[in-house]
Amino acid sequence: MTHHAIAIDGPAASGKSTMARALAERLGIVMVNSGAMYRAVTWKILSKKIDPNDAPAVIAALRKMDIVCGHDGTFSTITIDGTDPTPFLREAEINANVSAVSAIPEVREKLVGLQRDYLKNTHVVMEGRDIGSVVFPDTPFKIYIDADPSVRNVRRSDDGEIDSVEKRDAADSSRTTAPLKVADGATKIDTSNLSIEGAIQAAIETLCKQGFPMPEKKTPSLPQGETRGWMRWMYWLGWMSFGAAYRTLFGLRLEGMENLITSGPVLIASNHQSFLDPPLIGNLYKDEMVFFARKTLFKGAAKWVYPQWNAIPVDQDRPDMSSMKTVIRKLKEGWRVLVFPEGQRTLNGEIGVAAPGVGLIAAKSGVPIQPVRISGADQALPRGSGKVRLARITVTVGKPIILSPEELKSYTGKEGYEALTNRIMDAIKAL
Ligand code: DC
Repeated sequence: MTHHAIAIDGPAASGKSTMARALAERLGIVMVNSGAMYRAVTWKILSKKIDPNDAPAVIAALRKMDIVCGHDGTFSTITIDGTDPTPFLREAEINANVSAVSAIPEVREKLVGLQRDYLKNTHVVMEGRDIGSVVFPDTPFKIYIDADPSVRNVRRSDDGEIDSVEKRDAADSSRTTAPLKVADGATKIDTSNLSIEGAIQAAIETLCKQGFPMPEKKTPSLPQGETRGWMRWMYWLGWMSFGAAYRTLFGLRLEGMENLITSGPVLIASNHQSFLDPPLIGNLYKDEMVFFARKTLFKGAAKWVYPQWNAIPVDQDRPDMSSMKTVIRKLKEGWRVLVFPEGQRTLNGEIGVAAPGVGLIAAKSGVPIQPVRISGADQALPRGSGKVRLARITVTVGKPIILSPEELKSYTGKEGYEALTNRIMDAIKAL
């Protein structure tokens, strides 16, 4: 069987990784981060205290390295001499030295061979600098991603990284072997003024035009997020009635809608103020999504209605592993799912403490996380009160958090899940 390669090239922080990740998830193929391979070799060179500018010494060390590249079904993996360097690959020292190491032709020759090997077993979307020009020059599926240097610098510092993007671009573009350039036949996409969702849609359209065989849409137990331009009637009834009430009674104000990811799986993490919250979030979208509801609410008519609204019962009195597994499964099937990291409604309007469950779900599913902040719903329907009051409600949608494979690897174990939960909660609080 011939395997397809999608080549995504572009300068540092242009959005290549985010794009490649999203394409891999939506097309069900493997994402290979070729930059991580150059970074891994740089990490090994630095850890052996070799000067990255001393090409003969780098080449001698490279010959002794046992580099094993693979994938976990979605993302590329790498070990060198049995160690996985992924957690260290975004360190400032590596950012500062990777261009020197990757300019050495012998390093490139070795890594290009390993990159081409991926196609023996799987379809790939590979991102880098020379994928369309050198690694897979014959592939018809080539995209060159660009963005203004100012935008790219902001993106890198938003990621908390110390990286001189322009310096690295200059080195990567001016080297003699396989410099960064727009490959023959590549379509350029400028992401400076595009939202993440806009950029992904532009890439999918480009690939369709280039003739990429788009996969058949999966048909999970319920229709999938991106395929649904419709709602089942009971869902629609709830969506429409709540939506109308929110607009008339509560003068619903929506902010940050340009950040909203509207297709593919998304984990929506919101603060929790009142029973009004789930349909408030449901009203951000024009198709169905998945919610949680307390197990005890599934009685009487609700027992029938809640499943129609895609509500999954959750036990609030103890850690409910089975509901966590259900969310992760739903996300993997392509659904967007709303979780309230605090687990319960606020008593005083303030954002409370979150349990680490949301971090675990986010890390295990690897899907984009959309932080959302609700305000005013605690006034409209306070906890402990059955009375609805006229109060203005605002929903603010934050920029999605899209974790790189390196970040995903670093968020493991209890501490990792807590750290990711804190990052998500900080993003909600900052809105
Ligand atoms: O994509 P990145 O920023 O993680 O890449 C790190 C460095 O690796 C980049 O500055 C140049 C080098 N690189 C390369 O030379 N060729 C590739 N295909 C990918 C990365």
